Amino acid sequence: MAKSAAKPAPDPSSDPWLPSTRLFPPYLWPEVFGRTAPVEVDLGAGDGIYAEARARREPERDFVAVERLLGRATKIAKKAVRGELRNLKVLRLESAYFIKNLCSPGSLDAVTLRYPDPWPKRRHHGNRILTTAFGADLARAVRSGGQLKLTTDDNDYFQWACAEMDHCSNWQVQMDWSGVDEPTSEFEEQFKQEGRSVHRRGWIRK
Ligand SMILES: C[S@@+](CC[C@H](N)C(=O)[O-])C[C@H]1O[C@@H](n2cnc3c(N)ncnc32)[C@H](O)[C@@H]1O
Repeated sequence: MAKSAAKPAPDPSSDPWLPSTRLFPPYLWPEVFGRTAPVEVDLGAGDGIYAEARARREPERDFVAVERLLGRATKIAKKAVRGELRNLKVLRLESAYFIKNLCSPGSLDAVTLRYPDPWPKRRHHGNRILTTAFGADLARAVRSGGQLKLTTDDNDYFQWACAEMDHCSNWQVQMDWSGVDEPTSEFEEQFKQEGRSVHRRGWIRK
């Protein structure tokens, strides 16, 4: 029997997608903030109550609030202007794209994920943000010794995300992080009123 012919290499000219990595170069944080300081990112920042409180409380740190909805991102920008918070910037963009493409290796001190959308239906789990693959992208962007903090009201999501992170060899659970000194956020306030429990976990970049 004749041997089947080797599969031809894919022809790059047949790929209809333009690489979006060509759209923007990574941010240079000292250029953005006009100084060299630890940079912390709040992903899915909502209306920015938390990011504003952190920026006000910790003027020695710089904060980037990433939010994909224009209305919410605009509210964050207004808070930064009204509060004259030069250490708070807002970016209207998708979090995973931002971390993967717009943050230089080791350029972040910490990343916060507060009440990320839990996507409770099994068929929607592919939309959940804190996957093993995203953990690897975060590990690239966060400096060694830096931090990742997850807060959620959804126990199923919490267990799922922790299991995903268990596969990330670059992250180690931060046993001493309780999150009790964290300022609140709009969703936290709402969930508190509903009597929902809160689940928190921190990881340290090895
Ligand atoms: C449940 S709210 C939590 C908001 C805020 N962190 C808080 O604690 O109040 C989730 C927020 O994440 C935003 N979001 C969801 N997925 C996102 C993504 N992939 N990139 C950027 N923002 C996202 C939503 O628009 C929403 O504002």
